[in-house]
Amino acid sequence: MQGLIWNERFSVGVPAMDQQHKRLIDLINNLRKSEDAGIAFDAIMGMFDYASIHFRAEEALLQKAGYSLLSAQQGQHQAFIDKAVGFSRQDLNDPTICTEITRFLRTWLLEHILQEDMLYKRCIPPHLIA
Ligand SMILES: [Fe+2]
Repeated sequence: MQGLIWNERFSVGVPAMDQQHKRLIDLINNLRKSEDAGIAFDAIMGMFDYASIHFRAEEALLQKAGYSLLSAQQGQHQAFIDKAVGFSRQDLNDPTICTEITRFLRTWLLEHILQEDMLYKRCIPPHLIA
């Protein structure tokens, strides 16, 4: 699979969120390096890290903005965390796990960031866009 490169069409119009979303692309690209258990472990830890930093920040932003689809966002973010927990319980020596994580994160980029997150693009008042 080809590496992913950040593209302006990924932008949700809030630089802090874009910066954090780039971390997800790094996670996907790191998985290309190899398929060993260490890479899978790093990716899963990266998912937890991403969730604790980014989802908290994004939900706080959407709350301040009075965003009407906040609870849908929270539900999807929880599903991401549940998935990370599921991966962490799998046998990391199974060579298919890196492919599985990559597939999940790519789908997340396409379906969550490029669809759900894009819906808030025009709903954030200028004073909240640092
Ligand atoms: Fe989100």
